[in-house]
Amino acid sequence: MSEYHISVLLQEVLDGLQVKPGKKYIDGTLGGAGHALAICQKGGYVLGIDQDDDALTYVKEHAHDTKLTVVKGNFANIAEIAKAEEFNPVSGILLDLGISSHQVDEGERGFSFLQDAPLDMRMDRSLAVTAKDLVNGLHKGELTELFTKYAEERFAKRIAEAIVEARQSKPIETTSELGRIVARCYPRGDHKVHPATKVFQALRIAVNDELHAIESVLPQAVSLLSSHGRLAVISFHSLEDRIVKQAFETFEKEGLGKIVTRKPIEPSGEEQERNRRSRSSKLRIFEKL
Ligand SMILES: C[S@@+](CC[C@H](N)C(=O)[O-])C[C@H]1O[C@@H](n2cnc3c(N)ncnc32)[C@H](O)[C@@H]1O
Repeated sequence: MSEYHISVLLQEVLDGLQVKPGKKYIDGTLGGAGHALAICQKGGYVLGIDQDDDALTYVKEHAHDTKLTVVKGNFANIAEIAKAEEFNPVSGILLDLGISSHQVDEGERGFSFLQDAPLDMRMDRSLAVTAKDLVNGLHKGELTELFTKYAEERFAKRIAEAIVEARQSKPIETTSELGRIVARCYPRGDHKVHPATKVFQALRIAVNDELHAIESVLPQAVSLLSSHGRLAVISFHSLEDRIVKQAFETFEKEGLGKIVTRKPIEPSGEEQERNRRSRSSKLRIFEKL
């Protein structure tokens, strides 16, 4: 399934979830089903959830394992979906956060400043608000706050001002237009990655309400686990990882179970070489009492 997305920390997830034949698992971020099918191959039954129709279409066409059930939905509603599909309780839950390589590579989705496309960034294309709406509709102060809060962007204010000035003549429609506006706000040579990386991250988080979805899914996931069931979460940036770390600490204090990974598991050097996207990934695991 690697043409859709190369699964990150695959063996570490299988080991971490302690997958056993005949048991039930939920993958809340199905994507190209790399993790989900690997769980099925070990004999697990998997409920795979994704909010993106592209993922569901791809998996329905390419995955032929009767142990995999596929449902469209947001993992923020995991309890309701699991109940409807009779996946409650389950032995393990995986959340592999963020976007898939397919979503980035599919230029027209507007996630990448490397490909010219309308500013969209919705994972679920039935959502009402796109990145274009935010870029053209938010006030200067709101844009500054967005870039600061969701990306810790040090030139947030300057970028917000440049956006407001640029859109006075005409709306900002495309990824390239926004990329150029942001790049002009950075001092020359003062960046290792593309200057628009953080602004695009912030817009994506806002459009998909990503951090609230993570905050909402974690306690529901713990409730869905059977005794000794495990929750595995892979995050890709510090805002996500902080939420997961703090939630696990709270669950432990409340006596719900124990943190298995005192330090998060990171990809090996070999995996980082093979798959650049794995570089920022961190896997944390919690085991229910
Ligand atoms: C990193 S990819 C998962 C890749 C997958 N583990 C694999 O091996 O192919 C993340 C997927 O989760 C989906 N996703 C992200 N946030 C979601 C949410 N709140 N609810 C449902 N799906 C979500 C995205 O649409 C994307 O397809």
